[in-house]
Amino acid sequence: MYISSSNSVPCVGSVLVLAAPALVPSKNIAATEHVASGVRGGHGVWATCESPEDTTETVSSLFDRGVSVVVVSVSLFGACASAGLPLDRVCVRVDSLGDIPSQPRAQVALLDLDQATTAFGPLPNKVKLVVRFRQAVNVNVATVAALDLQNIDVVVPGDFDRAACLAAMLNTDRPDGFFATAVADPCGVALGFAFSSKASLEHVMTTAQGAYQSRSRKGLWIKGLTSGAVQRVYRIDRDCDGDCLRFTVEQADPGFCHNNTRTCFGPDSGLTALEATLRSRKAKAPAGSYTARLFNDTTLLHAKIREEAGELCDASTKDEIASEAADLFYFAMVKAVAAGVTLADIEEHLDRRAKKVTRRAGDAKPGAIEREVALAAEKAKASPSTTTPATPAPTPAKVAIKMKVHNHTTLSTPQKTALLQRPIYDLAEITSRVKPIIESVQQSGDKAIIDLTAKFDRVELSSTVLNAPFPQSLIDQVDPKVKSAIDTAFENIRKFHAAQLNTSTLTVETMPGVVCTRFSRPIERVGLYVPGGTAILPSTTMMLGVPAMVAGCSEIVVASPPRKDGTPVPEVVYVANKIGAKAIVLAGGAQAVAAMAYGTASVPKVDKIVGPGNQYVTAAKMLLQNDTKAMISIDMPAGPSELLVICDNNANPAYIVSDLLSQAEHGTDSQVILVAIDPTPDFLARLQQELHTQGEALPRSDIVRVSIGHSYILTVPDRKTALEFSNQYAPEHLILHISEPASVLPDIINAGSVFVGPWSPESLGDYASGTNHTLPTYGYARMYSGVNTDTFVKYLTSQEVTKFGLDLLGDAVVTLAEVEGLEAHRNAVAIRLKDIRAGRV
Ligand SMILES: *[C@@H]1O[C@H](CO)[C@@H](O)[C@H](O)[C@H]1NC(C)=O
Ligand SMILES: *[C@@H]1O[C@H](CO)[C@@H](O)[C@H](O)[C@H]1NC(C)=O
Ligand SMILES: *[C@@H]1O[C@H](CO)[C@@H](O)[C@H](O)[C@H]1NC(C)=O
Ligand SMILES: *[C@@H]1O[C@H](CO)[C@@H](O)[C@H](O)[C@H]1NC(C)=O
Ligand SMILES: *[C@@H]1O[C@H](CO)[C@@H](O)[C@H](O)[C@H]1NC(C)=O
Ligand SMILES: *[C@@H]1O[C@H](CO)[C@@H](O)[C@H](O)[C@H]1NC(C)=O
Repeated sequence: MYISSSNSVPCVGSVLVLAAPALVPSKNIAATEHVASGVRGGHGVWATCESPEDTTETVSSLFDRGVSVVVVSVSLFGACASAGLPLDRVCVRVDSLGDIPSQPRAQVALLDLDQATTAFGPLPNKVKLVVRFRQAVNVNVATVAALDLQNIDVVVPGDFDRAACLAAMLNTDRPDGFFATAVADPCGVALGFAFSSKASLEHVMTTAQGAYQSRSRKGLWIKGLTSGAVQRVYRIDRDCDGDCLRFTVEQADPGFCHNNTRTCFGPDSGLTALEATLRSRKAKAPAGSYTARLFNDTTLLHAKIREEAGELCDASTKDEIASEAADLFYFAMVKAVAAGVTLADIEEHLDRRAKKVTRRAGDAKPGAIEREVALAAEKAKASPSTTTPATPAPTPAKVAIKMKVHNHTTLSTPQKTALLQRPIYDLAEITSRVKPIIESVQQSGDKAIIDLTAKFDRVELSSTVLNAPFPQSLIDQVDPKVKSAIDTAFENIRKFHAAQLNTSTLTVETMPGVVCTRFSRPIERVGLYVPGGTAILPSTTMMLGVPAMVAGCSEIVVASPPRKDGTPVPEVVYVANKIGAKAIVLAGGAQAVAAMAYGTASVPKVDKIVGPGNQYVTAAKMLLQNDTKAMISIDMPAGPSELLVICDNNANPAYIVSDLLSQAEHGTDSQVILVAIDPTPDFLARLQQELHTQGEALPRSDIVRVSIGHSYILTVPDRKTALEFSNQYAPEHLILHISEPASVLPDIINAGSVFVGPWSPESLGDYASGTNHTLPTYGYARMYSGVNTDTFVKYLTSQEVTKFGLDLLGDAVVTLAEVEGLEAHRNAVAIRLKDIRAGRV
C-alpha cells in the first residue's frame, strides 16, 4: 500500500494516515515532545535518521516519542542491531536491492528509485520493501497498484492523486463499484456503515471531512452538511484482503446515525457510554447532583480517586476487583472530562507508550513501598469479614464509617514514619493556578477583583471595599442572641491576649556601661483573611482581630468573601466594628490576599497578612511573602486542619468520637488520628460503633466518610509512647482524654493548642475559651506558634554605651573587626579609644 502527503507520507501494512506528516526528518521530531497530533494509534509516523550525526540514541529517542519506524543508513542499521533495537521497526535505506543487509537481517528496507519500475526480481527473504520515487513523473496510479499487488509500499512525492491510488488498490464485487466502509470512533467503536467511491475518497483525502457515496441520491454525501453532525476523518485503514475500508473519525453531536444517535447500533456501553454521560453532565448537571459536586469540588474528587485506588488494591475476588476497578475508572473519567481530556487522548498515550523502547523501571515513589508494606501487614491481621463490600459507581460508598487500626508495637520503623506523613500536595499545580490571579490583581487592581469575584464567587460587586464606619443597617442584621455570644467570646479572647502583651522595656546591662534594651511596637498595617465558603466565620474575625486590636495595630483591614448580594456577612461586620477595622475587602481567595499585599485604588496595602484559608489562599500568601514588590510577611504556612486525640480505657467513647467528628467535618482533607493507650477489644469496638452512629447522623456525613476514611487509630502500649508519637506528629489540635490529663503537659513539646480533659472539647477553643484557633498545621507546630498577640508586634532593640563601657569593650571589637578585615569598623572604635585613652575626652 502507499501513502503520500505534502512531502511523501509512507504507509505501513493496511494503514493510511491522513493530514499528518510522516517520513519526518528526525530533527523536526526531536524538537517535539512526542509525535501524536492527528495520528491516533501512532501506526503512521515514520522518521528518517539520515544525517551523519544521528546515532542509535537518536533512533531510540524517536521510538520513545511514539515514532513507529525509523529509516536509517546501512551503517546506522548495523549499530541499531548491535544496540538491540527492534529491527522490525528499523528500516534500512538502500540504493539497490543488493545493498539490503542480510547479516544482521533487515526486515524493512526503503529503496530509492530514479526510474519507474514495476517489477523486481525475487526479494531477499521476508524483507518488507518500500519504494521511494524521487520524482513524481516516474510514477502513476498503475505503477502504485502493480507494486501493491506485490506487497510493496510506495512513497511518492508531492501532490499525487492519492484517492485514485487507493481506489485502484481496493477490490469490490459490487456492480456499482462502490467500496464498503465501516465508520468508527477514535476508540474503535463502530458508529455505522456506508459506501465510498473514488470521488468520495478524493473529498475525504483532500479535506479530511467525512464524505461518502450516496446510493439513493447517486452522488457525494458530505456527512453533517445539513444536520451539523460533521465528521473529521483522520485515518483510513484498508482491511486485510482489500475489499473494505475503515474510517476513523471524530463525530460531532448528535451523532452518525440519521436517527440522531451517536451510532447506528443503538446505545453505547462501557467506557464510551460513561464518557458521553459525563460530558453531558459537565455541560448541564442538575445542580446539587453528586456528579455536579464532583465536578465542582476537586478536593472531594481527589479524595475519591485515592480512596478507590486503595479499595482496588484491597480487592481480592474477581467480582470485587472488577467492581473496584470500575469505581476507579469512573472517578478517573470525571477528572479527565473535567479537564477536557477524552478517552481517545488516554488511549493515545497507551499506544504511544507501547512504541517506547526505553522502559521505565516502574519503581514506586520513595516511601510508597513502605506504606504499602504497612498496609499489607495491617490487612493480614484484619479478618476477611471486615473487608468492605464492593460499591457501585457513581453513588458514594455507603460503607460503615470506621477508622483503620494500626498497632504501634508491631509496626516497623518505616511504617511508623509513614503514619506521620501528611498528604502530599501538588504545589506546582496550585501555584500555576494562583500566579495568574496574583498577576492580574497586581496589574488591574480593583477591576481584577471585580472580575475574579464574578468568576469564582458569582457575585457582581459594585465596589470592592466597605470603609468604616460600617453601615448600622448591616450590624442590625445580627441576631441579639448572636451579638451577646460574640460579646462573651470577644471579652475572653481580649483578656487572654491583653495579658500576653508586654509593653514594658526589657533592659539588660551586659557589661558595666553597656546597656541593651528590647521593646515591642505594633505592626502598623495588618490584613486579616476570614474565609467564607461553607461556614460563616465571625469567630475567625475575632481570633485574628482581637490580638491585632490588643497589640495596637493602627490599620486593620479584614478581607472576607461577600454574600450573593455583594454585602459582607453581618456577623463579620459586627466584629470588624468592635475591633476598629478600617475597611472590609469584599473578596475571598488568592485575589483578596493579593489585593491586600499590593494595595489597589480602594484596598489599603498592609504589611502582614494572617488568617486561615484553603490551599489557594495559602499558596498566595507564600508567593506574595516572597515578592519584594509586595513586601509582606505572613503568619504561617497552613495545611488542612488536624486533630490528634490521646485516650485511655477510662475515657468516654462517645465524647472521643464527637471530638474526632467535629474535626472530620471541616473538609474531606481533614486529618484525624486517635492514639489509644492499650485499648481493650471491647473499647475499640464501642469506638467504631459510636463513630458509625454519630457519623451517619451528621448533615455532613459525606465529608466525614471521606475524611474518616483516610484517618486511623494507633494502639500504643503506654502513655510515654503515645506522647512520643504525638510530639513527632506535631498536631494542630491535641485533645487529652486520659486520667490526670494536666500531668502530661510538661511532656508535650509540639502541638498547636492542647485541650485538657473530657470537658475541653476542641469546639471551645475554636470559638470562645480565649485561646486563638489560628494554629499551625501540617507539622509546622514544630516551629510555629498559633496566632497570638506577638503575631502583631515586632521587637526593636537599642543600646547605649558610656565612655567607660566603650573603654571596657572596645578592644574586643577592634580584634574581631581586624580578623574579619573590616578596617572601617575597626577604625570607628579605635578613633574613640585613642581619644579616651589619651585623656582628650
Ligand atoms: C430510525 O430510522 C428508521 C428509518 O429511517 C426507522 O424505521 C426507525 O424506526 C428509526 N428508529 C428509531 C429508534 O427512531
Ligand atoms: C458548580 O459550579 C458552577 C459554577 O461555579 C455553578 O454554576 C453550579 O451551580 C455548581 N453546581 C453545584 C452542584 O454546586
Ligand atoms: C499490639 O500488639 C502487641 C504485640 O503483638 C499485643 O501484645 C497487643 O495486645 C496488641 N494491641 C492491640 C490493641 O491489639
Ligand atoms: C514583661 O516584661 C518585663 C521585662 O522583660 C518583665 O520584667 C515582666 O515580668 C513581663 N511581664 C509579663 C506579664 O510577662
Ligand atoms: C521564592 O523566591 C526564591 C528566589 O526567587 C525562589 O527560589 C523560591 O522558589 C520562591 N519560593 C516560592 C514559594 O515561590
Ligand atoms: C494561640 O495558641 C497558641 C497555641 O495554643 C498559644 O501558644 C498562644 O498563646 C495562643 N495565643 C492566644 C493569644 O491565645
